[in-house]
Amino acid sequence: MHAISKSTDSERYARCIRASKRVRWDIDEDVIQGRSFDRSQKFLPDGLSLVQEFTTLAVDEKRFVSQIQGRTYANMFGLVERFINAKVLEVSRDHWLGDQVALEALVLQLLVAEPHQELFRRINDLVGATLPAGYHFDVNPDAVAGVVLSKSTWAVLALTLDIELFTQLHYRHSIEPDAELSALFKDVFLYHWKEESQHAILDELEWKRHDAELTVEARDRAVDEFIELVGAVDGILQAQAASDAGYFAATCGRTVDEAETQAIEAGFLKAYRWQYIHSGAAHPLFGKILSSLITADQGQRIQAALDTLH
Ligand SMILES: [Fe+2]
Ligand SMILES: [Fe+2]
Repeated sequence: MHAISKSTDSERYARCIRASKRVRWDIDEDVIQGRSFDRSQKFLPDGLSLVQEFTTLAVDEKRFVSQIQGRTYANMFGLVERFINAKVLEVSRDHWLGDQVALEALVLQLLVAEPHQELFRRINDLVGATLPAGYHFDVNPDAVAGVVLSKSTWAVLALTLDIELFTQLHYRHSIEPDAELSALFKDVFLYHWKEESQHAILDELEWKRHDAELTVEARDRAVDEFIELVGAVDGILQAQAASDAGYFAATCGRTVDEAETQAIEAGFLKAYRWQYIHSGAAHPLFGKILSSLITADQGQRIQAALDTLH
């Protein structure tokens, strides 16, 4: 039984290698293609930006909200790719003197991680050249990575799978028919998704492999650490929602009073929690893998923590 599951895993690593070699893309030639952003278009699709929640805003103001969120999207991915990259490098060590197919698959994942960070830096700069000055994203990716990587590998791999699965769901939202959605941002979703599909498979394989080595007590602690990590992500989202609401109020061209600014901030936070926490946590595959590794009581602890983030 063990031998069968091992050969199936090897085949999945091998399939990831073939797929990553097939889908490789170039930031300039394939994604950006010399284009810049256009303020008459939305940057994030409505299914992610939740602009319908911003009930006090006019149509063009809602579009501006999607553009601010697009810039934050680029910055959030620049942030998470940093710690994911470091963790992949670390877990690849387990395969150095063992499964060379698994090692190659993880090394290929590492090779695309820097281009992903570069892509999101370029997108941040391009959006910055289009929108008014005054936007801030003051979170240091290395400082966040330091906090994340201080937690157990089980907890970090759980968060990583969550993230790499939600990028796939985000892509699906971006292909829903919407003539006002930026073609450049659609391509960012498309090309990112092509590689994240492989990454999610590798995350699952590495997470299960690591999980099999844990004691019951260590896994129970790791569940709490995963909850702490989700809380840390939420702290970043709360700060960014406040920053982005303040930026909107200062640059939208009309007076926005304190009560409306608070409503706009709540809208940003709801959208960010959907984009960076709930869209992954509610992903059917994430739920399936997570529940196969933990007890019902641990599942309830995680669900109770997620329920507080609404
Ligand atoms: Fe990525
Ligand atoms: Fe990735």
